[in-house]
Amino acid sequence: MIRAENVWKSFKGKVVNEGVSFEVYEGEIVAFLGPNGGGKTTLMRQVYGELRSDRGEISVDGLSPYHALEFVGVVPQDVRPIDGLKASEHVYVNALIRGIPRDRAWARARELIRKLDVEDKAVDKLSVGNKRKVLIASALVNDPRYLVLDEPTTGLDPKSRRELWDLLIGLKEKGRGILLTTHYLEEAEYLADRIYFLNRKVLLSGKTWELRSKLSLKYEVVNIRTGERYKVERSELPQFLYRCDFDYEVRVRSLEDVYREVVGNGS
Ligand SMILES: Nc1ncnc2c1ncn2[C@@H]1O[C@H](COP(=O)(O)OP(=O)(O)OP(=O)(O)O)[C@@H](O)[C@H]1O
Ligand SMILES: [Mg+2]
Repeated sequence: MIRAENVWKSFKGKVVNEGVSFEVYEGEIVAFLGPNGGGKTTLMRQVYGELRSDRGEISVDGLSPYHALEFVGVVPQDVRPIDGLKASEHVYVNALIRGIPRDRAWARARELIRKLDVEDKAVDKLSVGNKRKVLIASALVNDPRYLVLDEPTTGLDPKSRRELWDLLIGLKEKGRGILLTTHYLEEAEYLADRIYFLNRKVLLSGKTWELRSKLSLKYEVVNIRTGERYKVERSELPQFLYRCDFDYEVRVRSLEDVYREVVGNGS
């Protein structure tokens, strides 16, 4: 498992991760959500050993992130594929780096490029979404036990996003542990077994279905004319509506509502 205990990280005295703890087991998908600048990328970079924590500890199956590189596949947020290679060559080179023999490396590269439906041409000529898919294929090349994906679906069209979701779910079912960040609540809801809301600290975390079922007990009544919103428990809804002297709309609260509540509207 990936385990982070009380992790702190500051840049020039500004605290970016404050006492963050979490875990990712094999066979589950964990999503981090939070506003821009909330510290997700900083946290991920510590998980894959690119940054050292100031305090606290991160381990992957008991090893330090640096020593676990061999079985952690990574797609950083702002990385670009290596220009001058074709998509399949990019994946192939990554396979060689991971110590896979040439013939197997080629077979694996072709298989992944096909599976992710990437055009096999020079990566600098690919669209943003296809570049991202090349990076994902490259991270998957040695079938790593864990995957760390920082906003893997940003820039993907709906079809590609859905395909990647299915791919990730398939990997999870094979027992891989997946840690990802996203700005898409529906993505977290669809994919993740557990969710962490991060804005410097962990504001809220839990199993996705628990967060959802807690929420479904609450409704939001919106005053159609003024836009005012009222949070109402399910048991109190009939009485509340009976007393309403305005035109209303009743909404079931979604993860998006919790997000707004815990992270704030300013994001
Ligand atoms: N190398 C660095 N030096 C100084 N400050 C940094 C550095 N990296 C990140 N920061 C700062 O740390 C804070 C958190 O940034 P981070 O990239 O971790 O957030 P994020 O949650 O990934 O945001 P986004 O959703 O936009 O990707 C920001 O205020 C950022 O400016
Ligand atoms: Mg980020």
